[in-house]
Amino acid sequence: MAFTISINGQARTVDVDGDTPLLWVLRDVLGMTGTKFGCGMALCGACTVHLDGSPVRSCITSIESVGNSKVTTIEAIGATPAGAKIQKAWLDHEVAQCGYCQSGQIMSASALLARNPHPTDTDIDNAMSGNICRCGTYMRIRQAIKVAAQAASKEG
Ligand code: FES
Ligand code: FES
Repeated sequence: MAFTISINGQARTVDVDGDTPLLWVLRDVLGMTGTKFGCGMALCGACTVHLDGSPVRSCITSIESVGNSKVTTIEAIGATPAGAKIQKAWLDHEVAQCGYCQSGQIMSASALLARNPHPTDTDIDNAMSGNICRCGTYMRIRQAIKVAAQAASKEG
């Protein structure tokens, strides 16, 4: 069945079963491999994308459930104000280690900063608790989010 969804500002039409996970559509059908497969069960956060700005686990989001929501992936998050600040802070603080979880981390952090420009440590922990990093980069993630929030504050 054909589905047309908005991905990173572009209408994309794919012919797949309705229960196909958005993650498979992104990676296998459209070749957008920036979004990662980790657990496939909404437990790790590696597959996080935004639906209308909110972070969702694309491994358990069926293509038919996307409807008219706008999908944003790691490939385009740098074009958003919050995403650009998060990505800069990530680079400045050399957050990534192996890097596998980092797309998902950046997507969750960008969604947090977009809705909450002044996150507390608790806000950060709550927003990021579903994103697992086997390399243990959690302290650098928190620091980078704080730096990105400060950059956002300075711009008013
Ligand atoms: S792959 Fe989706 S949460 Fe782990
Ligand atoms: S940087 Fe390796 S799993 Fe997070």
